[in-house]
Amino acid sequence: MATPSKPMLRALGGEAVWPPPMWLMRQAGRYLPEYREVRAQAGDFIALCTNPELAAEVTLQPIRRYGMDGAILFSDILMVPWAMGQPLRFAEGEGPQLQPVRDAASIGALDPSVCVANAAPIFETVRLVRAALDAHAPKVTLIGFAGSPFTVACYMVEGHGSRDFAAARGMAYADPQLFGTLIRTLVTATTGYLLAQAEAGAEVLMLFDSWAGMLSPSQFRRWVIEPTGQIVRNIRKVNPTIPIIGFPRLAGPMLAEYAQRTGVQCLGVDTSMDLRWAATAVAPHQALQGNLDPLALIAGGMALETEARSILGTMRGRPFVFNLGHGIEKTTPPEHVSALVRLVRTG
Ligand code: CP3
Repeated sequence: MATPSKPMLRALGGEAVWPPPMWLMRQAGRYLPEYREVRAQAGDFIALCTNPELAAEVTLQPIRRYGMDGAILFSDILMVPWAMGQPLRFAEGEGPQLQPVRDAASIGALDPSVCVANAAPIFETVRLVRAALDAHAPKVTLIGFAGSPFTVACYMVEGHGSRDFAAARGMAYADPQLFGTLIRTLVTATTGYLLAQAEAGAEVLMLFDSWAGMLSPSQFRRWVIEPTGQIVRNIRKVNPTIPIIGFPRLAGPMLAEYAQRTGVQCLGVDTSMDLRWAATAVAPHQALQGNLDPLALIAGGMALETEARSILGTMRGRPFVFNLGHGIEKTTPPEHVSALVRLVRTG
């Protein structure tokens, strides 16, 4: 059960908790020596994500080192296509590689109903982390997550990372029916995947939509707002109370419509967004989460202090979760993260 005294759950419930709760996107990862050690032990990245003991261990590393308010499940947004049977590998230095799905046969072959069974080790990780937090860190909130259908579809169609995801966005225009079938498959798979995380002990769910900002407004409504809203409504039918964070990265002014129409409790905001504007674009009870530049965290010193204090000054008096505007970079000195935690803790 959710414990209402957890700072992060209070903020997501609409309370202006101060100093604000904090965690950092990609807080477990290669910038931490203790992560690199476990990663080497596990073999490849997928082996790590599907090894509940090791994945739980790396989830907890930043909690032990920094005392963050949120522990994010250690996994990846591409584990959903992997669990539906799309071949995936993480090649060293190249990022993720998938066997692309670009026609009716390969998209039709994806089976959302096997996703939850194949992702069983990930839910076991959630159980292990939750038990450890309940025993040793009862104020820390466990965050489950998935990629949003559009961003996951970008990788599934393209087969790898890309500057513009032209194959995926092109398919959305040239064959909206086929692209729509892929998005619907992902809505079904993602709903089941997130509900299974909630059942295993996740107390908050986050939807990462890293590439939402590449879309025109009409495409954004169709491929970001509608499917995200469907997932939120599907989850609400089964679990009416779990807070959901939506992160439509680089959405710009589309954030207002996203906030209004998807029904998420909290909006993740990227580094480019003016927090003063964001505060006027969402409802007063909707929390904001963000948006320190990961590069300011690498720089440290006065640059970090100035940026972080400006965010705190702007968000004081509002429901807010301190975070980065995108994931931690692997060259980040771990002691800069300690300095940031000290700064945010003093409000
Ligand atoms: O935040 C956390 O600490 C939780 C774990 C997490 C990872 N990826 C671990 C990871 C989360 C929430 C993600 C989300 C994710 N994955 C996104 C959305 C957020 C964003 O960054 O925009 C995306 C687009 C992915 C896809 C992905 N996974 C890419 C493009 C890469 C390669 C880039 C890289 O840094 O190597 C990954 C691999 C990945 N996911 C790593 C980690 C720690 C690095 C793998 C390694 O250890 O070698």
